[in-house]
Formats: sequence, C-alpha cells, structure tokens
Amino acid sequence: MATVDLVLPHHRYTIHIAPGLLADLGTLTRQAAPHHRAALIIDDKIIDTHSQAALASLKAANFDPLAATMTAGEDHKNLATVEKLYHQLLDQRLERRSPLIALGGGIVGDTAGFVAASYLRGVPFIQCPTTLLAMVDASVGGKVGVNMPQGKNLIGAFHQPVLVVIDTDTLKTLPKRDFICGLAECVKHGLIRDPDLFDWIDQNIDAILAQDSATLVELIERNVRIKADVVMEDEKEAGVRAHLNFGHTFAHAIEAGTEYGRYRHGEAVSLGMIAATRLAAASGRCDSTVADRLVSLLNKTGLPTQANDLPPNDKLMAIMRSDKKVADGRVRLVLPDQLGKVSIVNDTPDDAVAGAWDSLRA
Ligand SMILES: NC(=O)c1ccc[n+]([C@@H]2O[C@H](COP(=O)([O-])OP(=O)(O)OC[C@H]3O[C@@H](n4cnc5c(N)ncnc54)[C@H](O)[C@@H]3O)[C@@H](O)[C@H]2O)c1
Ligand SMILES: [Zn+2]
Repeated sequence: MATVDLVLPHHRYTIHIAPGLLADLGTLTRQAAPHHRAALIIDDKIIDTHSQAALASLKAANFDPLAATMTAGEDHKNLATVEKLYHQLLDQRLERRSPLIALGGGIVGDTAGFVAASYLRGVPFIQCPTTLLAMVDASVGGKVGVNMPQGKNLIGAFHQPVLVVIDTDTLKTLPKRDFICGLAECVKHGLIRDPDLFDWIDQNIDAILAQDSATLVELIERNVRIKADVVMEDEKEAGVRAHLNFGHTFAHAIEAGTEYGRYRHGEAVSLGMIAATRLAAASGRCDSTVADRLVSLLNKTGLPTQANDLPPNDKLMAIMRSDKKVADGRVRLVLPDQLGKVSIVNDTPDDAVAGAWDSLRA
C-alpha cells in the first residue's frame, strides 16, 4: 500500500492507495472518525459492483451505515440533490460526529463533500474516489461544491476530508474513455511541476493503459503527492494552487462552447493544455519542443490533440472572458516556461489567444 500525508496548519489526513482497499474502509474509517453511525453516499452506477464491499467493511468495523445514492452527471451536481441528501441524513438522525463517505467519481465527491461541509455545520468527510480523475485530483484538497444554472462550481466550500481511501481495483469497471480522461490531469501535473513524472508516464504508457496493478498504484501515488504538495503550499488558492488550472481556461471554453455535450473534461483539458503551450511557445515564453513533447505524449494516451469542430474564436474568447478566474476583465492564463514550470500571465493579447485556438483546428 502507498500512503501520502497531507499536512495543513490545523488539519492533517492520509491518502491510502492500494488494490482491494475497500475491504479496509471500515477499519480506516474507525481510526479517522470513530462513531457508531456513518453515511455512505454512492454513485448509483456502481451500486452493484462496489458498494457491497464498502458496506460490508463498515459493518465489520461496527458501523451502522446509512446508504444513500445519487446519479453522477453535472446536471445532478446541484442544490436539489444536496437537499435530498440532507433530508435522508436528518430522517436517519445522522449526528455531528458521524462520518459521511463519498463513494464515486468527482461528481459524488464534490456534492457529498458539500453536504458534509454544511450538514449540522460540518461533519467528518471521507473520500473513496472511483474514477481516475477523482483519485488523482478531485478527492484531494478539500474543494467541494455544486453547480448553478449560471455556471459550474459556483456554490461551494473548502472542507478537507479526514481520510481518502483509493481502491485501484474500482477502476476495472470504469469505461476506458473515463479512465483516459483522468490521464489528462496526470500529464498536467507532470508539465506544471514534475518533469520526471512526465517522462515516467511517457515510458510507462502501455502498462498504464493496460491498468497494470503496481503501475496504477505508482501513477496515483505520484499524482496525489503533487496535488497534496500544491494544496499544502496554498490551501485556499491564493497563489500556486492556481497552477492546477493549466489548460483549464481553454478547456472550460471548449466545454461550455460545445454545451458540455461533445468533449469530456479530460479531453477538453488535453486540447486546452496544447493551446496554452503553443501560445507560450509562439510568444517566446517556452521552447517549442515543450509543445511537441506534450502533443506526442497526449497522442499516446489516446486523448484528442486536435479539433476541427470547435466553435468560432469570438464565441470561445467571450466564454474565456466570462470565466470566474478572470481578474479585472483580463483573461488569466497559466502558461509554461519550461517542462515542469509554469507562471500566471495576465496580459496575453487577444490575437495570441486566437492563434492558439487556430492551432487546434489545423
Ligand atoms: N473538487 C475538486 O478539486 C475537483 C477537481 C477536479 C474535478 N472536480 C469535479 O469532478 C467532476 C468530474 O469527476 P469525474 O470525472 O470523476 O466524473 P463522474 O463523477 O461523473 O464520473 C464519470 C462517470 O463514471 C461513472 N463511474 C464512477 N466510478 C465508476 C467506476 N468505478 N466504474 C464504472 N463507472 C464509474 C460515473 O457514474 C460517471 O458516469 C466535475 O464535476 C469536476 O468539477 C473537482
Ligand atoms: Zn481538470
């Protein structure tokens, strides 16, 4: 088993990573949040495949677990789902010290996490991520929240988990397209701060795509370590945590500009990272070989590296300007200086951004 500790001034927790780890959920939960009750919020797609192991383990550790379900998908990550969950917890008299456990992808983690942050002014929260994206990104760092009709993730809180339990075997049932989407965030981590990880993914891509068990544990551990390091340096995104948005301003424009229907988040991030890196290369900020190496690696993962069906530039740029990460009306971009190092740039001219969009259509 691999473990990563995340240490903050007033809170610390451990992220455990191993195949078959759901069998230990009960004992790990008992150490992190001892109580006689627990609530398990389950992605309804994985009830048949993974929830029994989690529930059995909780019962074996003397918890009396309440099981509630929700449906994944951005249109269920909202206050209506949150309210439904509040009712179930209240009806079952879940108490202030009862841990609330999210079993699912980032949708369940973000939504259940917001419930945990607000129910009775906050209960202990445990993440059991079951998608690669949630394992390497969403389950670590304490950002929880839901969408509004006006935009994604507009309502939320920082509520750090007390424990993260990553059972890599749960990935066996994840559709291949979703697995590959998680790799976009792994490549991102390498590019923004770990050139060795970038090379390691490149060298081990066949074993990663074959989901070799030991390779998966190492992949997830290395990525969790990067996410945890960034969060430890900057929990509330006042500085370096914004580097995790590399490729994401472009990606959000692609997702919103195509009505969230055509591209998965990871696919949009793949294209967004390429656009940002080409922009940096074209303006002399980084060497053009960085863009070449990025495209080569993303091609090997199976993520898209070009897109001829993007909306027109003026539509994409209007969405970029309305992004909540915009400061004083200027688009803030995270751009690479070299492989493993990025900076936040506030004054990119529109024609340079347009050129980056055009490069994706070539
Ligand atoms: N809080 C954060 O820091 C943070 C960071 C990144 C992303 N996010 C959020 O994460 C969300 C996306 O998460 P996601 O990509 O995990 O999507 P998701 O939760 O929708 O999961 C993707 C799909 O896989 C299914 N699924 C989950 N686990 C499975 C398994 N083991 N086997 C089979 N199917 C499974 C789900 O039902 C869903 O259909 C977004 O809402 C995003 O905003 C949050
Ligand atoms: Zn992302």
